Amino acid sequence: IKNIAVLTSGGDSPGMNAGIRAVVRAGLYHNLNVFGIRHGYDGLVNGTIIPMDAKSVANIIQRGGTILKTARSEEFRTYEGRKKAYDNIKNLNIDALVVIGGDGTFTGASKFIEEFDIPIIGMPGTIDNDLAGTDFTIGYDTAINTVVDAVDKIRDTAESHDRVFVIEVMGRDSGLIALRSGISTGAEAVLIPELEVNYDAIMKRLDKTRKNKSSRIIIVAEGDKEGGEVVAEKIKESFPHYDVRLSILGHIQRGGRPSCMDRVLASRLGVAAVEGLLEGRKGEMAGLICGQVQFTPFSKAIKHINKADENLTRIVEILSL
Ligand code: F6P
Repeated sequence: IKNIAVLTSGGDSPGMNAGIRAVVRAGLYHNLNVFGIRHGYDGLVNGTIIPMDAKSVANIIQRGGTILKTARSEEFRTYEGRKKAYDNIKNLNIDALVVIGGDGTFTGASKFIEEFDIPIIGMPGTIDNDLAGTDFTIGYDTAINTVVDAVDKIRDTAESHDRVFVIEVMGRDSGLIALRSGISTGAEAVLIPELEVNYDAIMKRLDKTRKNKSSRIIIVAEGDKEGGEVVAEKIKESFPHYDVRLSILGHIQRGGRPSCMDRVLASRLGVAAVEGLLEGRKGEMAGLICGQVQFTPFSKAIKHINKADENLTRIVEILSL
């Protein structure tokens, strides 16, 4: 392997820049030429591929978003699109790829390997933390800290007005953002897609906790069957005398300076991805399990395993009195 390229794909996540920097610099350290592909797989299809050097990734470790930009490519889903992508990388003599993203990114990479036998290693980049093969994904720690900051602020105003707030957080298929931010903000209830919601129990808890606090916060994951709006309506129906408000945090959760944890995670996995390629690995994601770098086949990494530990949901319940 002499020439490698890196891309970011799918929804962006804080720490992707630290990951790009790590891949570029680890590649240079190992005497490889490194290219950057712009706009994810779209850039591979359209040939927007640029040479990267140590300077091109200077001063980006602290920046949110992705300097290479990202996309969800429709063309790469087709065989014609992937053939164009293959021709582009062959023209530049690119031997291997590092792709940073989530399940869609790795699904595309698997197809590409199957058809054209290109070595590809993945790095988990998504705020949702919904990949197997790594305890945490790049961006998750920053996102939950953003949520905690926002919920703490909402708690101040909720307390002043004696209000009940339903706060919807991101997580299309996963309640992991909701769960950890719920525990750390003292939410009275957390609703996540991984668990059947017992509305009766939640309403009772809201009523019971009223004597101890004037504000109540219910965190609802975006992927919950009902969603924040319906949950807020249900609370209003059960307790017409409660002053209920809904707040949907939205894309604020995807931006911002990456936390130290995300920068370190992205740096470790970037080096691991490059060294994995040099060892002859392909079709695997570099992840961190119990503090150790481990490689997991894409097919396993994208399986939607339930990472929402029931012990964590119990903690919300026990501590919400
Ligand atoms: O990055 C994952 C995610 O944050 C999901 O939780 C959310 O549903 C989705 O991205 C929204 O992304 P977009 O607005 O870019 O389609």
